[in-house]
Amino acid sequence: MNVSVREVRRDDLSAIAVIERASFSDPWSRAMFDAHLMVRGGNLFLVAESGAALVGYAIVRTVHEESELLNIAIAPERRNQGIGAQLLDEVIRRCRASGALEMWLEVRESNVGARALYAARGFTAAGIRKRYYHAPREDAIVLRAAIGVDVRSETVTQPVQGLHAGSVDSIISTASHHPRQETK
Ligand SMILES: CC(C)(COP(=O)(O)OP(=O)(O)OC[C@H]1O[C@@H](n2cnc3c(N)ncnc32)[C@H](O)[C@@H]1OP(=O)(O)O)[C@@H](O)C(=O)NCCC(=O)NCCS
Repeated sequence: MNVSVREVRRDDLSAIAVIERASFSDPWSRAMFDAHLMVRGGNLFLVAESGAALVGYAIVRTVHEESELLNIAIAPERRNQGIGAQLLDEVIRRCRASGALEMWLEVRESNVGARALYAARGFTAAGIRKRYYHAPREDAIVLRAAIGVDVRSETVTQPVQGLHAGSVDSIISTASHHPRQETK
């Protein structure tokens, strides 16, 4: 069945919470999703829909030329069908259109599936946050992609010169500096 991507609505939150709990050992609370629903400028909260069913979501925050992917998940029974890739492509397209040049995210070191998805979209490792995640405790790999260039059309929208361009320490921090549940 065709999958479409649209902006979130308040009445999506129950279905999102179900997917979140099925996807993460340290799920976001309903209040955290609520908060992202309220935030406007720079915040993008998209859902993927298949027929009447909500099958995934993604949340991104953009400040100036940098976007940060805060959360993405697909319903377990709908994984490996290209929906995560479709959703991430739409997120990147919209962030690029709003002027972002780079996208950053963190991923559990052991999350092979997500890392494969990000690698296929041009994300590369920029560093490690030691013991960043809890339940279970695990390092985060920090990934970065230049998104100012659409590699499929090779259209250069702006020179790729993000704030973090240049050398990046392999260990970005030894402890979590975010409240843990701010990002996945
Ligand atoms: C990560 C996630 C969003 C991927 O969504 P998905 O719809 O299953 O991914 P897709 O079917 O679009 O696959 C995209 C690519 O990733 C690869 N991939 C996805 N899951 C994989 C896995 N478990 N192992 C290896 N590769 C995998 C696919 O092979 C595909 O590559 P291709 O385009 O070269 O064929 C989904 O698995 C998920 O919700 N996981 C739980 C939540 C999570 O970990 N979120 C990320 C937090 S950082």
